[in-house]
Amino acid sequence: MTGEWDACVKKIEITQAEIVSRVHELGAQIATDYAGRNPVMIGALKGAMCFFADLVRAVPIPLEVDFITASSYGAGTSSQGEVTLSHLPETSLKGRDVIIVEDILDTGHTLSRILAVFNEQSPASLAVCTFLDKSSRREYAVPVRYRGFDIPDYFVVGYGLDLGGVYRNLPYVGVYEPEETSKNG
Ligand code: IMP
Ligand code: MG
Repeated sequence: MTGEWDACVKKIEITQAEIVSRVHELGAQIATDYAGRNPVMIGALKGAMCFFADLVRAVPIPLEVDFITASSYGAGTSSQGEVTLSHLPETSLKGRDVIIVEDILDTGHTLSRILAVFNEQSPASLAVCTFLDKSSRREYAVPVRYRGFDIPDYFVVGYGLDLGGVYRNLPYVGVYEPEETSKNG
């Protein structure tokens, strides 16, 4: 919305102010729910980087952080259907209260795979916190404890979300629309 590189971002779906406000609501809720429990919050890279960094600072209780790298998309706007976990948390999850922090829940394929892998370690509890939820697209049932925003079936970029690795540094969430009328997926 400011230059040429983001000319395909036609509409701001969620503003910076809306993000700040919602992240603080979620953080306060997590702090209340996990008081005295020292949870491990696990950010899903790379998409959750902005949300994760803001969210953990909005949870004013002792907690630990770790990361997982999961990818299901190539350079396009449609899922490739295969989930690759290329980095797993270093923290032992056995007996821990675990909160997975995701950028966006679409078909649910990625998160259901992550949940299955984490459950093998027998955590005391396992909760999902997703910044965005395209709930109309769900194919795999995923229990969501914390949700930032439910959005329609648009392809969105910014605040960590990418298209082919680009646009993650936009400070808001925008709707991506290619210049041509035909979409990429
Ligand atoms: P799922 O496995 O279908 O739930 O897809 C989840 C992953 O797909 C997310 O972690 C994102 O990396 C990616 N994704 C899904 N929708 C979008 C979108 O609108 N913009 C950017 N990435 C998306
Ligand atoms: Mg992505």
